[in-house]
Amino acid sequence: MSYPAERPRRLRRTAALRGLVAETRLHPADLIQPLFVREGLDEPRPIACMPGQVQHTRESVRKAAAAAVRAGVGGLLLFGIPETKDSDGRGAWDGQGITQLALADVAAEVGDATVVIGDINLDEYTEHGHVGVLDERGDVDNDATLAAYARVAVAQARAGAHMVAPSGMMDGQVGAIRRALDAAGHHNVPIMAYAAKYDSAFYGPFRDAVESRLTGTRSTHQQDPANLRESLREVLLDVDEGADMVMVKPAGLYLDVVRRVADAVHVPVAAYQVSGEYAAIEAAAANGWLTRDRAILESLTAIRRAGAGSVITYWATEIAERLPR
Ligand code: PBG
Repeated sequence: MSYPAERPRRLRRTAALRGLVAETRLHPADLIQPLFVREGLDEPRPIACMPGQVQHTRESVRKAAAAAVRAGVGGLLLFGIPETKDSDGRGAWDGQGITQLALADVAAEVGDATVVIGDINLDEYTEHGHVGVLDERGDVDNDATLAAYARVAVAQARAGAHMVAPSGMMDGQVGAIRRALDAAGHHNVPIMAYAAKYDSAFYGPFRDAVESRLTGTRSTHQQDPANLRESLREVLLDVDEGADMVMVKPAGLYLDVVRRVADAVHVPVAAYQVSGEYAAIEAAAANGWLTRDRAILESLTAIRRAGAGSVITYWATEIAERLPR
């Protein structure tokens, strides 16, 4: 017998062999495309720190949604950016607020061909950039913010959102939103909970994208990157409160969390490849330091391999266009 007896390389010899034994595949339906819509724009406006991404007009977001559907993308996650902000973030639940208008436009455009998801938060709408109502000390008031999120959820469902995604990391937010949706007759609108959301530097480009001027910190509500077990607590609480799906965010630096969460719950798991993950790869590729397409596909494959069924990624439409269906 020749040595070595075990030759794992036999199965790597051709693309066909590698394809036959691949354990993880990307499919367009696994990908969710975030879209930004800015009130009062005449032309789409490029987001400098996220090359390739724009703040859409109401018109251009419909076209982007249609293109995502043609590519077979599984979902669209909408973020509205109002013309003016205030201290309470009232535009977030105004029936004529930009997110509601865009949800209605996009839902009319795509019908049931993809899942239209509204992000529930106040940070795009508040002048201080915080995710909720502030108390006298300038910290986010948990329970006052729950009441606001409940209003936002109902406004988004009424506008036509197929799903809502609370991202503020307030205790009890999933339960408060579930109750409000049910009371308003929207018992069929699922909740995708940003369940394990870390206080990450990698949200930096997003804050530019939504023109948020945050002063202060999110560390009193978003999780400490040092913690893993805490995510299991957060996720189990959200499932208990009625979350239909749970999400881990960011994705690439938190693959251990994705894996543990996927093993711990029986609801679908999503992971959010955030703005800083996108910007880092785009910037390195623009300098010729990474091969862009390989880096993108590797990053997405790793997130799926770790256990995420769905990946929220700014590359969703672009990559979906190139994947076999
Ligand atoms: C809150 C929200 C944020 C992101 C998604 N929803 C910002 C935050 O929590 O500070 C970040 C997404 C990204 O960085 O791509 N509205």
